[in-house]
Amino acid sequence: MPAKHIALVVAVALLGACANVKRCSYEGFGRDDWQQPERVVESLALAPGERVADLGAGGGYFTFRLADAVGEGGRVFAVDVDPDMTAYLEKRVARDGHGNVEVIRATPADSGLDDASVDLLFTVNTYHHLDERSAYFRALAPKLAPDGRVAIIDLHPDQGFFFRLFVGGHATEPAQIERELDAAGYRLLETHAFLARQSFQVFALAEDERAAATAPEASVRPGINKPFLSADLDVDQWAERFEGESREIYVERQGIADTLGIEPGMAVADIGAGTGLFLSLLDERVGPEGAVYAVEIAPNFVTHLRERAEREGLAQVEVVVGSERSVELAKASVDLAFVCDVYHHFEYPQASLASLREAIRPGGQLVVIDFERIPGTSPQWLLEHVRAGKQVFRSEVEAAGFELIEEVAVPGLKENYFLRFRRP
Ligand SMILES: C[S@@+](CC[C@H](N)C(=O)[O-])C[C@H]1O[C@@H](n2cnc3c(N)ncnc32)[C@H](O)[C@@H]1O
Repeated sequence: MPAKHIALVVAVALLGACANVKRCSYEGFGRDDWQQPERVVESLALAPGERVADLGAGGGYFTFRLADAVGEGGRVFAVDVDPDMTAYLEKRVARDGHGNVEVIRATPADSGLDDASVDLLFTVNTYHHLDERSAYFRALAPKLAPDGRVAIIDLHPDQGFFFRLFVGGHATEPAQIERELDAAGYRLLETHAFLARQSFQVFALAEDERAAATAPEASVRPGINKPFLSADLDVDQWAERFEGESREIYVERQGIADTLGIEPGMAVADIGAGTGLFLSLLDERVGPEGAVYAVEIAPNFVTHLRERAEREGLAQVEVVVGSERSVELAKASVDLAFVCDVYHHFEYPQASLASLREAIRPGGQLVVIDFERIPGTSPQWLLEHVRAGKQVFRSEVEAAGFELIEEVAVPGLKENYFLRFRRP
């Protein structure tokens, strides 16, 4: 039998003996000898209270050592895409009482980490599993605190077949890691050479990337909400405009509300609720167990929405004062966010979308209705008022971490489109 096949047979037999096959395959046999975990953690020079993300935490080989290093005041996010591994880690956290470890089930497109929440992104024997690595690490940049670092340990390509079989199969040249991280906006800070089987590199964001990451988003349309924010806003006059037969959204409101797909008990957010055209339609659909959050930034509309909900007996409606950069809703509190004729009013779309992404629970939906904007066809006032068309808005929403599910042709809607997105 060729040597490769013998190795395979032995490997499979050994794997079968493990209680947890995957975990054993990640940790191999005698890992402590070649991995030198204490020396690795020591060389990271973690300060008590720091926050570390262990990306591809697997069975937690490093997670709990990192948790000890940052102490009770610190935090370790054990991030993995494999539900078997996150279930195992959760059990272990509960069993051993690691109060500073949080397990996060990630997807390849979404680490599940909050912005500016991590001092060190740490990843061992995982790099070679990642697709589109420059894009992956670019997307992680906002998750880092201002002086955050990225530590990457991966297998040297010159390891033998048997060894690689046990620790994940592939390997990456350190020069390739450096090139890919450079393309993602990082620079190499230091290299540790004490691991015989793995490369160990530490990176930080390059200065210009750091400046870009921390610079506040500029307004994409300064002053577009000025009339709404004015203390002199005449609500009755706007109610006539928003709730009149000449407005397609008003005429087709029943069809729009039906297309939202609201189930009793859902929590729905009407972002930029205006004069409250949709309040009763949403209130009746969520039923007595559901919730409708009417989010508004214009003070006079906020007062009007509260009075209207009271007057019309809309028991499920709660009016929420939003800001121009945030919908001000609790994390994962919403099943469906409805943004009707409002997206083009977002002055800071990246910030508003980031807050929406936080507010919508994983698997929840975002519906955007906005004007079709076609240069040469759309009227001049629309071309001036609405800053971009469907493709641009769609790309912005996708870049903020939403997936397009479908564009729905709502009967009667000709001037407006209806896009349904999912928050992964
Ligand atoms: C054209 S009105 C649409 C009102 C309502 N959705 C409708 O279709 O009748 C736009 C509304 O969006 C609000 N708005 C603008 N920017 C907002 C933001 N960042 N967050 C929440 N509301 C916003 C404005 O105050 C205004 O009430």
